[in-house]
Amino acid sequence: MTKNKELETYFSLMLASGSTALYNFVQENELFKGYKVGVSFSAKDFADKHQYKMIPAEVLLNSLVSLGLLEKKNDQYELASVMELLSGNYKNLSAEYWAHLPTLLKTGTPFKRMDAVADSEKEYQVQVKSLEWMMTPCAELMVEMLAKTRADIKTKKDLEVLDVGAGSGVWGFNFLYQNKDAKATLADWPAVLVVAKATAERKGIKDRVTTIEGNFHESVWPEDKFHYATLGNVTHILTAEANKTLFKKIYKAMKPGGELVILDAYGEVPEGELARALYQMGLTIRTIQGRVFQPNELKPWLEEAGFKTFEFHSLNVVPRSMGMLVAKK
Ligand SMILES: C[S@@+](CC[C@H](N)C(=O)[O-])C[C@H]1O[C@@H](n2cnc3c(N)ncnc32)[C@H](O)[C@@H]1O
Repeated sequence: MTKNKELETYFSLMLASGSTALYNFVQENELFKGYKVGVSFSAKDFADKHQYKMIPAEVLLNSLVSLGLLEKKNDQYELASVMELLSGNYKNLSAEYWAHLPTLLKTGTPFKRMDAVADSEKEYQVQVKSLEWMMTPCAELMVEMLAKTRADIKTKKDLEVLDVGAGSGVWGFNFLYQNKDAKATLADWPAVLVVAKATAERKGIKDRVTTIEGNFHESVWPEDKFHYATLGNVTHILTAEANKTLFKKIYKAMKPGGELVILDAYGEVPEGELARALYQMGLTIRTIQGRVFQPNELKPWLEEAGFKTFEFHSLNVVPRSMGMLVAKK
């Protein structure tokens, strides 16, 4: 290891440790309980409220600004909007998953079984709203990159998109945001699709969205209908066999020349390397056999299903871990 690499490793660990310590201190002590986005406060207000000494209180607030948890304008602070999101499901940054690591290592038993068909509806019902938030930049970039070489995406009047394991609908909906005549069909569990339906209503695209509700291994799909299909963050919760069967089902649903876009944490942007490694660790903690299959593993299965040509792109937006494999019928 070179000296600079040693220092980089040391400093990145120190940054991660310091950031987590500050964040956990804020959440555990509910420092901003009752504070609202858009309502500003001074360091003195904050120090008085908590009976803190002024200097360390101000240093703390400035560190939280650097962390992106607060914003500062003219010596006034206010909550960054991410703090609202961090008051929900993801408040403890999945600490309970990481706490399970020693047990996983000793027993091999995961913390959750999010890849078990019987558990997935209940689990994803609560997860997909946050996933929508996390995947939105990637979904926007996916459509933008595809549209560069495919004029039909933005202009085709009867463009039909199938979103399999749609969750919030983030992948399919982004086609609709770019083409006012496009239609999307979402396949997922009914309780999960409640989230997507609410988004469709809010975004005014309800009339262009159809759902196929239930177990996507069993539900009946139209054949020869779709110009594009998306499969986002799904292959890593399925076994190799289940993926192969699903690819065959998607192939049948697509028009000749139609393209399937498979999105997963297999991008090649170097800055996403740690995110990808931790993602796989997280998958091992929360699934029985979850594994990010790489494009070179997926391709033979896609070929077996009938797909002929392939394209791969990394998605260089946060979290910088994602990539898209495009397979053409
Ligand atoms: C990791 S989430 C991905 C959601 C969305 N595609 C995204 O990337 O944000 C996996 C999705 O697949 C759905 N799913 C998993 N197994 C399923 C099954 N057997 N039938 C229907 N949906 C299923 C889950 O409900 C969940 O919405």
